[in-house]
Amino acid sequence: MHEHDVIVVGAGGAGLRAAIAAQEEGADVAIVSKLHPVRSHTGAAEGGINAALREGDSWQDHAYDTMKGSDYLGDAPAIETLAQDSPEEVIQLEHWGMAFSREDDGTVSQRPFGGLSFPRTTYAGAETGHQLLHTMYEQLVKRGIEVYDEWYVLDLAVSDEAEPEERDCHGVVGYDIQSGSIEGFRARDGVILATGGLGQVFDHTTNAVANTGDGVAMAYRAGVPIEDMEFIQFHPTTLPSTGVLITEGVRGEGGILYNSEGERFMFEYGYANNDGELASRDVVARAELTEVNEGRGIEDEYVHLDMRHLGEERIVDRLENIIHLSEDFEGVDPLEEPMPVKPGQHYAMGGIETDENGETCISGLYAAGECACASVHGSNRLGGNALPELIVFGARAGHHAAGRDMKTAEIPTGKRGEWDAGDVDTPVEPGDVSGGGAGDAVADGGAAASDLDPRELVERTTERAIARVEALLENEDGRNHAEIRSEVQESMTQHVNVFREEAGLKQALRDIREAREDYEDVGVADQSRTFNTDLLHTIETRNIIDLAEAITLGALAREEFRGAHWRKEYQERDDQDWLRHTLLSWNGGSPELWFKPVILEGEDKRYEPKIRSY
Ligand code: FUM
Repeated sequence: MHEHDVIVVGAGGAGLRAAIAAQEEGADVAIVSKLHPVRSHTGAAEGGINAALREGDSWQDHAYDTMKGSDYLGDAPAIETLAQDSPEEVIQLEHWGMAFSREDDGTVSQRPFGGLSFPRTTYAGAETGHQLLHTMYEQLVKRGIEVYDEWYVLDLAVSDEAEPEERDCHGVVGYDIQSGSIEGFRARDGVILATGGLGQVFDHTTNAVANTGDGVAMAYRAGVPIEDMEFIQFHPTTLPSTGVLITEGVRGEGGILYNSEGERFMFEYGYANNDGELASRDVVARAELTEVNEGRGIEDEYVHLDMRHLGEERIVDRLENIIHLSEDFEGVDPLEEPMPVKPGQHYAMGGIETDENGETCISGLYAAGECACASVHGSNRLGGNALPELIVFGARAGHHAAGRDMKTAEIPTGKRGEWDAGDVDTPVEPGDVSGGGAGDAVADGGAAASDLDPRELVERTTERAIARVEALLENEDGRNHAEIRSEVQESMTQHVNVFREEAGLKQALRDIREAREDYEDVGVADQSRTFNTDLLHTIETRNIIDLAEAITLGALAREEFRGAHWRKEYQERDDQDWLRHTLLSWNGGSPELWFKPVILEGEDKRYEPKIRSY
């Protein structure tokens, strides 16, 4: 069994920052990641990092823009923490040598991004994530932090007390992708989940194939509530044939969106009379699809993004990567022609419920980055707020897990019997959906896990993981994961997209249930123990099913239109009934839906919900 003080699962921006922070506290820390660190999806982030660095800007303005962007569903303590800590974190990156784009006077450049009242997005060309990842990886190597790369975490070793709030996390079980060996990892002080996004729940996404929501699903099955899962961000500018991201930085630099009539529709049709192309992402994505639905799209599918007027010199200086992406993935030279773009799944606002220190309701279990929900983004994330979230909350989780005394968190976690579905009428009762055989991370049967010492618990969880994997391999002629996965992805893209209506959401739920039944007989044809991606994808598909169900249940339950969640039947934001977070708890496989209030009280003011216009 491997043993460390702190184990970080995932090696993207949040994982690397968490590991560095834990080591700064003197912890023996290790990263376990299914990818080599520099292959993590953070490397695909293009646009930038929001931080109030300049005179005329302030953390208060950053917090206000973020709260407004969230459509008043973010929690003020998390939002204010993000805005307060991000300048220091960006300066830290700069001191570590990150190659930021700069002005002639040497200061770090900042550009406008959607929904920001000040140009506060720092960037490194259109490859900010790549630069960030490599800068932190250098720190990792310099500090000698141990990395188990190409190890896939199968399960969390969590005790089995009746209430999740009484449980402890003592480690994880890892599968060595290279050798097929399954081994336990004991964490003496804490496990930090930093596993990134879940874009593979959809079939048109900017996310890498590795983004299967593993950490969110694992934590959910271990008893941690997952929060606001219905809020999925569809980025307005993705390439139609692949989903590859074309950064919002193009619009930040002055790029313009046109419909098939050559009209600048953001203004022409009044979608955002002030900010136009730089309105918040949910607003622009809906505008584009409305153009297509009303017959003003191109090839009935997309709109045009034009940046030719910016001139080659500026484009090459600030957006060079975009020229290559557009040429390589769409065959369009953006110096000569406008780029075809359409909305694509980009980001999950919801995730593992944490407080502003990254702690979940299970002792010793933390989460940071896209897999977590503190909640900073509420119902819609602003562009440029994902990367600061990684470094701010990655650092906090790392420090806390390694024992630093932190200010007591204001955001409550865990159900603690205080909240329930209350008077909210939901068309989906928890019992309507069976969790089926997806399996729980909490040890079941045999001696109560709470009676085992931490090492025994890790050992027993490991044995059970081995048995599950062997069962998959033995069912050689079982159903293939790829068919099941595609059924879910196609249904989610069709029914749980930018525009949602009850009948479609219910159809998606039926499709997911069917996929879950099919998964009961899933098997793995490839019997190899070396780089068995068939096996890996089969295991991931279970996570995709659980999270697709959670997203759809949340979307059905939330009977209002807020941020990225548009409902045909409910065309208004409803602050009376819905100024609350949706939470789902894994109740032996039957998702239990409950709610908790949004915290709008900030450090020295209350963020009063207003009509959100751009
Ligand atoms: O458009 C972009 O470059 C994406 C940035 C983000 O999601 O924050």
